[in-house]
Amino acid sequence: MSIKQLLSALCITLCLCLGVGWVLVFFQSTATVRYTLAEQHEIVPGGNEHGKDIASQESGNKGVQPVFNPPALEDAPEGIREAVLLGYKIMMDTPTYAGEYVGNELSCRNCHFDAGRRRDTISLVGVAAVYPRYRSRREYSADLTLRTQGCFERSMNGTAPPANSQVMQSLKAYYFWISKNIPIYSDIPWLGLRGPVLNDYTPDPAKGRQVFQAVCSRCHGQDGTGTPIAPPLWGNGSFNDGAGMNTIKHFSDFSYRFMPKNGPMLSKEQAMDVAGYAQAQTRPHFVASHPNRVEQVISVKGEE
Ligand code: HEC
Ligand code: HEC
Repeated sequence: MSIKQLLSALCITLCLCLGVGWVLVFFQSTATVRYTLAEQHEIVPGGNEHGKDIASQESGNKGVQPVFNPPALEDAPEGIREAVLLGYKIMMDTPTYAGEYVGNELSCRNCHFDAGRRRDTISLVGVAAVYPRYRSRREYSADLTLRTQGCFERSMNGTAPPANSQVMQSLKAYYFWISKNIPIYSDIPWLGLRGPVLNDYTPDPAKGRQVFQAVCSRCHGQDGTGTPIAPPLWGNGSFNDGAGMNTIKHFSDFSYRFMPKNGPMLSKEQAMDVAGYAQAQTRPHFVASHPNRVEQVISVKGEE
């Protein structure tokens, strides 16, 4: 066999190998696509427990059970670590790290305990996997920027940080990092608040006042406007009347499940009554700081 013959033989073998390899890769990728499609067909319509002001998504990632296991912040990839850590600091001490957008004495962590890294207490673990969401109250789908702007304008009685601000970019880096490994659009049982804790029950503010004085005032202050150990529940330093917490539904659920902090003990009636009492107090009035509507409504509900 001459060198020439040997070379051409080698060449033919190489081409054959490449061809077979390509065919294998081709079939594998189509197989994967088919698998995913088959999986998608099994998805049962539904959503997580946010059925209230945020309508549930039409479909989920039902096949996979999300596991609650937020990664350590220091383990964030080098390129985003600084942003993730800043996002965390903003959540924990909002007046210091995002003061220009804050109009009260609260920090995000006062409602999203431990910066949203607890399993309950309005967790934010997995939040990056479930947005954009359709918001029935406003009839549009909102992404995490719009959702976060809402919390600044209402819960923080402040102004909306622009999408291209460092505050917004850091918060989003933080949400995405703590949502690591949560399958996109899966049903995440721990997100959101529920409530009201009792249906068909009219809260009695007078009884709620007694609950407040007996249970809440030792931390939140005799007049409810906060102490060094607990944030204000009403008054100028608190969330405004457009906030989610300013509803019997959310306030009763939060108080029933999480208050007093580390030792919840209210009966359902007491939680409803104290929510009624909170509703009767004065707090700042919500004023939109930016057009709070998406001009072009894109329906994600599908054809009815
Ligand atoms: C042992 C002290 C303690 C008691 C008692 C207590 N809380 Fe709290 N509460 C806290 C702390 C601390 C926070 C903020 C949590 C954080 O930042 O980690 C908080 C946060 C809250 C919040 C959300 C933030 C805000 O200020 O609006 C509400 C609402 C609330 N408490 C309601 C109540 C109600 C209602 C009661 C009585 C049934 C109550 N709390 C009793 C310590 C307490
Ligand atoms: C007074 C309490 C309170 C404060 C303070 C607060 N939030 Fe919220 N936040 C809520 C409530 C209530 C919801 C709605 C929960 C639900 O939909 O069931 C919410 C929802 C959210 C969501 C969407 C979560 C989901 O599961 O859809 C994000 C993101 C968020 N808040 C971010 C923030 C950030 C960032 C801050 C601080 C700048 C903040 N919040 C301050 C009460 C608060």
